[in-house]
Amino acid sequence: MARKEQIMKRMFKANPLVRIAGLAIVLLLLTGCGKGSVEKVKIGFVVKQPEEPWFQREWKFAEQAAQKYGFELVKLEARDSERALAVIDTMAIQGVKGFVICTPDVRLGPQIVAKTQQKGMKVISVDDQFVKPDGTFMTDVPYLGIAARKIGEDVGTELFKEMRKRGWKPEETGACIITFDELDTTRERTDGAIDSLTKAGFPKERIFRAPQKTSDLEGAFNAGNILLTQQSQINRWLIAGINDSAVLGAVRAMESKNLGADAVIGIGINGTDCIGELAKPNPTGFFGSMLLQSRIHGFVTAEMMYKWVAEGVEPPKDTRTTGILITREDFKQVLTDQGLGDLVK
Ligand code: GLA
Repeated sequence: MARKEQIMKRMFKANPLVRIAGLAIVLLLLTGCGKGSVEKVKIGFVVKQPEEPWFQREWKFAEQAAQKYGFELVKLEARDSERALAVIDTMAIQGVKGFVICTPDVRLGPQIVAKTQQKGMKVISVDDQFVKPDGTFMTDVPYLGIAARKIGEDVGTELFKEMRKRGWKPEETGACIITFDELDTTRERTDGAIDSLTKAGFPKERIFRAPQKTSDLEGAFNAGNILLTQQSQINRWLIAGINDSAVLGAVRAMESKNLGADAVIGIGINGTDCIGELAKPNPTGFFGSMLLQSRIHGFVTAEMMYKWVAEGVEPPKDTRTTGILITREDFKQVLTDQGLGDLVK
């Protein structure tokens, strides 16, 4: 063995041609040309509402995971069920091994899982958990979402606190709650807010649910308008909703009835979809938001999927994230601390 090594060493020293050939082989092996280039692992990330900054952040953080681990991220949008099923085919054709999805309809869960298995892929659900036909959760599919009830309760607590600080009487105030009960994670948020408001002493009969037909700003604006027309005698409002867009829609509806920053306290959820609002030179009725951890929702889910596909590490079945309040006063600092500094530049 030692002799062989000596001979090799001598050959390399003696013959420059051998040295060059050796170097060329090493280079070929490193670049992968010797045996056909090495394909990157492909991971998909499908979102239901790509226009929401929240989902753009998830994509952005998933990209960071792709860079860290050297996989290719395939970003796709699926606004409806038909498209959600179609993109699974698209991904399969592209050679995607697994994907993270926030589905446009949670009842599509069983079909998504069936199709995914049929294509030999893996799936993790983010934000909105898949449900079975009987309405119970598909707990066998790894899920990462928010601790919705707790975050909703915190919204209620903060609203009540701010109302007290301003010296408003609960019996002269109304609570407008923009709801979307079709989805568990959103229903839990507004139920939580109602619970904590009631527990703090806010009169039950002054809490009004305003259901959104569509879970976007326009849907909330319409829901808010209907409520304000019905309760036109109330001129001080607290607003809670399923996310930032919901509260922003209601704030806009209030403004159209001349109820502004001195008459409205609204607290959203997400913290990513209200930056422009909080940065406005003059305060509006949008008081603050519960900032969620989009980095975990984007980076960690993509990382989990990569490790599952590439290393066989199964992700945890249920992961929940928390939120923290941001307001006009501190949002720039908190967002920067949370790795979202580019949003406030
Ligand atoms: C749902 C909402 C989003 C966001 C996420 C957070 O999908 O529609 O706006 O709040 O939950 O998990």
